[in-house]
Amino acid sequence: MISAIGAVASNGMLGLDGWLPWDIPEELAYFERTVAGAALVIGRLTYESMDVVPEDSFIVSRQSDLVMRPGCVRVDSVVTGLQCALATGKPVFVIGGASIYAAAWPYCRRFFLTRIEMSFEGDTLFPDVISAGDWHLVAEDRKIYLEKRTGQPVVCRFLQYEQESPHKLPLLDL
Ligand SMILES: NC(=O)c1ccc[n+]([C@@H]2O[C@H](COP(=O)([O-])OP(=O)(O)OC[C@H]3O[C@@H](n4cnc5c(N)ncnc54)[C@H](OP(=O)(O)O)[C@@H]3O)[C@@H](O)[C@H]2O)c1
Repeated sequence: MISAIGAVASNGMLGLDGWLPWDIPEELAYFERTVAGAALVIGRLTYESMDVVPEDSFIVSRQSDLVMRPGCVRVDSVVTGLQCALATGKPVFVIGGASIYAAAWPYCRRFFLTRIEMSFEGDTLFPDVISAGDWHLVAEDRKIYLEKRTGQPVVCRFLQYEQESPHKLPLLDL
């Protein structure tokens, strides 16, 4: 199964200066727990922002000379990344950023989306081509955590959306 996972602020922001606009360790821990053991499809900028990238990560970039960390493979399109990730036999998670979500979401069965109920300054928006109206909400949990930059409590809604008939991927051209 192909899933996507991400978190979005109430004003649609996903990223700031190459990282997250907020500091909520529990939300990051949820992300890490959820994708543990999966094959990942990652945009090049998101990949470069990560301290640790697990093996079987497929990095989407048009730069053919990009040097990859051990266990990571560059792919030149989102579809190729999804095909390669599926070929590992592991569950597949698309972890962003924005353009990668936009290209991958037609193929995703599930979207694990954390809605952070606070507005944040940012420079990267959740793509507006993904309309939650097309998805069914299948799971929801709600927690309040301390956001460490503002020192304010923030509501995090851990949602899982599902789309009934994701597009089929073209066969891997070996
Ligand atoms: N809130 C969240 O859940 C979440 C999740 C992920 C990321 N983020 C944040 O979002 C920001 C990064 O996201 P972003 O959208 O700016 O960048 P990104 O999607 O991580 O990476 C963009 C890069 O991916 C490659 N790329 C994108 N689409 C492609 C395509 N169709 N074909 C081939 N290559 C393609 C290009 O790499 P080349 O330039 O090398 O060709 C492009 O410059 C950061 O601030 C990050 O922390 C937040």
